[in-house]
Formats: sequence, C-alpha cells, structure tokens
Amino acid sequence: MTLPHSDQPAADALVLFGATGDLAKRKLFPALYQLERTGLLKVPVIGVARSDWTDQAFCEHAEEAIVAADAHADAAVIGPLKQRLDLIQGDYSHQSTWEELRDTLDRHGSKHAVYYMAIPPSMFPVVAQQLASVGLNQRGRIVVEKPFGRDLPSAQELNQTLAKVFPEERIFRIDHYLGKESVEDLLVFRFSNALLEPVWNRRYVRSVQVTMSETIGVEGRGSFYDGVGAIRDVLQNHLLQVVALLAMEPPAGADSQYLQDEKAKVFAAMRPIEPDDLVRGQYVGYRDEHGVDPNSDVETFAACRLEIDSWRWAGVPWYVRVGKGLAESATEAVVEFQRPPRLLFDEAGGPPPGRNLVRFRLGKQDGVTFALQAKTPGPHLDSQEVDISVDFAAALGERSAAYERLLGDALAGSPRRFARQDIVEHTWSVIQPILDTPGPVHPYFRGSWGPSEAERILENEDTWYEPSS
Ligand code: NDP
Ligand code: BG6
Repeated sequence: MTLPHSDQPAADALVLFGATGDLAKRKLFPALYQLERTGLLKVPVIGVARSDWTDQAFCEHAEEAIVAADAHADAAVIGPLKQRLDLIQGDYSHQSTWEELRDTLDRHGSKHAVYYMAIPPSMFPVVAQQLASVGLNQRGRIVVEKPFGRDLPSAQELNQTLAKVFPEERIFRIDHYLGKESVEDLLVFRFSNALLEPVWNRRYVRSVQVTMSETIGVEGRGSFYDGVGAIRDVLQNHLLQVVALLAMEPPAGADSQYLQDEKAKVFAAMRPIEPDDLVRGQYVGYRDEHGVDPNSDVETFAACRLEIDSWRWAGVPWYVRVGKGLAESATEAVVEFQRPPRLLFDEAGGPPPGRNLVRFRLGKQDGVTFALQAKTPGPHLDSQEVDISVDFAAALGERSAAYERLLGDALAGSPRRFARQDIVEHTWSVIQPILDTPGPVHPYFRGSWGPSEAERILENEDTWYEPSS
C-alpha cells in the first residue's frame, strides 16, 4: 500500500483515545502492525486511557491484539512498533491529563497530530473540548468513530460542538466501509468501464438490491447494540454509502470535494423512507443476549425500499436489507436489468430467461459477476444463464484491510475516504421517518433470511436475491 495524495500535512504523532478498548484491540493495533510492516508508520503512537495500565502492560496488550489477528505476525515488526508506543494514564476530567498529553507531544516535537477517538460517542465532545483547553486543537485533526449521532438533531448538535473546536477539513468521520477496496471499486468499476454507463439508469435498470447479512449475533456487544439497532448501526452509514456509490453521477475528478459533492446530490434526491417501506425483524434469542433488555424491540434486521428522485433513477426501486443471525455472511449489491423487449429464443418452451444482473460482492471473496444469457447447446435456439465472474483477490492480489487504509489516510491527511458533515446529516434525514415511526419488530429464526414480512416491500414480481458468495 502507498499513502494517498494528501490534502493536509502528514501527521507527526498518533494519539489513541480508548487504547484499551475493543476497537483498538480488534482493528486498530492490527492495522498499526500492517502500517509498520509496510514502512508507513513513522510516528509515535500515544495511547490515552483511564485504565491503570503501565507502559509495559500496554505494549503487551498491543502485541496480543496483533497476534490474535495474525498468528504469523512477525516479531521483527512488532518490536519496532512497541518502541513507538507510549501510554498516558489519566482521567479525562483532570486538566493534568491534557497537560501531560500536550507535554508529551511537545517532547516529540509534534505539530500535526492525529487524535483518534476510539471511545464511546458520548465522550467525543468532551475530548474535543479538552484538547482545545490545552491548545491541541490548533495542531492536529480528529478522527471520529461511528455512530455519529443517533438521529438528525443529535448529529447536527455533535457537528456544531466539534465545529467550535476543529474546522470541518480537520474532522475525519470514519465509516469503515469507505475504506474497503471492494466498496471503493464500485466507483472505479462504474466510471472506468464505458460499457456500463449507457445502461446505468432508469431506462435499463429495473431494480437495485443491497444486502448486508451476517451470521453472527451481537457477540458480546449487546449493551451497545441494544441502544442502536440495525438501522443506526449499519443502514444509516455503511449501506447508504454503498447506495450513493452505485447511484452517483460521475464526479468532476478524483478529489475528495468532487466525490463528496456527487454523493451529497444522491442523498438530496433520496426520498425520506416512509414507515410503510420498512420491515424490522429481531432474531429469536436476541432478548436473552447479555446486555440486552429482555423486552427489547430493537431490530437486528431491517429491510427497506428507497427511492432516488433524480433524472437517472426516478421510478427505480432500491431495496436495502441488513441483518444479524442470518443464513450467510455476505455483502452484495445486485443491479437487475430489464428484460429484452421480445423473447426470441425459446424454442424448447421453458420458463422465460432470467434478467441480466450485475452482482458486486463487497464482503469476503469480493469481486463481480455478470449474469448473462447464452445459447443452450443443442438443436434449438434457446438461452440459458451463464455467469461471467471475477474474484478480485485472485485477479488483482490481496488488498489492505479497511482500517489499515483509513488509519493510513488519517495519518497522511487525505479526507477522501471519510464522511463529510452534510452527507452524514443527509443520511440521517433520509432515515428520520423510520426512526420516528419504526413499526413492529417481527421475530425470525437464526440461520434464516429474516422475517417473511420483508417480502411485503417488494414491488410487482420482485424477489430478494440471495447473495452468491
Ligand atoms: P469500548 O466500550 O471497548 O470502549 C473503548 C475504551 O473507551 C475503553 O477501553 C475505555 O478505556 C474508554 N472508555 C469507556 N467508557 C468511557 C468513558 N465513559 N469515558 C472515557 N473513556 C471511556 O468501545 P469500542 O472500542 O467497542 O468502541 C470505540 C468506538 O468505536 C465507539 O465509538 C464505537 O461505537 C466505535 N466502533 C466500534 C466497533 C467495534 O467493533 N468495537 C466497530 C465500529 C465502531 P479506558 O477506560 O481505559 O480509558
Ligand atoms: C460495524 C457494525 O460498523 O460493522 C457491526 O457496528 C458490524 O455491527 C460490522 O458487524 C460489519 O463490518 P464488516 O466489515 O465485517 O462487514
């Protein structure tokens, strides 16, 4: 991996708030290891924690996290990484914690730090304000984890609070789907292949489906998840970002502003989702999970229909489905095309040929499959479905993980793969009606495709496509 073009100065220190937490353990330390391995980590990494850990305990924790993610991790990489680690232990409400952080950054000669907030969202404003109290907001940028608010008013309030302390260009809002190569590929695939553009519109596309299914349940995150649910956890952010990449017009160029401007137009044209166009589900057994309210009606599944009232997409239904405890783990976008105007080749008189599909596999085994029609062997003129498929890892080689890319971007100062304020607010506006009137939650069994009620939102003879991977 090489670092992208920077819009801002490269960072000279990384400050990790929440360094003792789950995200740091599962994603951030493994990402730091990869950046160290590829020579891209050149800065001190300063953890900040309330936990009473020594520097040594912190280093051991980091090493364990790295080895848990990669049993073959190279000790010759872990060693130098540990040399970069430093821990500031202290309460966030004590001014001395912030003075110590400032002094530590001074000692490293830091002028452009990255402050990464791997902490509960309720703490984002506190940390931003405390950084400002010792002048550190003048010399760095913040990386804010999701969820960014829990509805439109709270997202606006959080934006306003952060904006008092950091200018917009120095607020990097993480949505790790934007760091996935497979998701970014949607943009490149669409606009680098001239054959797609003429048919990528309401005249030829019949519907678009995006499914994010996970076999896992809430996996020890019950108390977090029960305050959030599937709509806030992944639909508002990851899934709507995927929709925007599939729907947007060609940007004027690859610069961050151009990309964000085109996405913003998609959301401006997207109708707020009507409560009738939503079906929520909850897997049986969710209420028994640790940290979950036994009477919870929080959804672990959501299926909804979206409309984008633009020149390109008016009238095309967009179906989006997300859920935990489902039959397979896959993230897939399926673009379904209209049938040809006449059925010419059906001499054997079988069922009508299926519609052409473009399936983007965005999760594991990412790639793309075109479902097309070809002549059935034999004397008759008949057609049958054939898949033209590419597995990107086999064709292009292994790619970097999302958090590695995003941490690299944050250090390099490139905002391209982060979410802009207006877009975050647009996405909350789109889902606000279904947050206000969510409707009932339907039970479903683990290992299924969610509640059968999800069929209700499909139009005409549409069906949900099961992921192909
Ligand atoms: P944790 O609950 O593990 O908390 C992270 C750390 O924050 C803790 O180790 C703790 O460290 C510190 N912390 C907790 N509560 C407080 C508090 N009240 N005041 C100050 N510090 C506190 O969270 P995660 O690591 O799971 O998540 C961190 C962020 O990342 C959240 O915004 C979350 O939504 C987001 N996220 C997490 C994902 C995940 O898979 N875990 C996925 C995507 C986003 P200490 O007490 O030592 O300071
Ligand atoms: C996170 C959600 O943002 O994305 C989790 O909080 C979800 O609930 C995860 O499991 C899925 O990410 P990925 O990269 O495994 O598709």
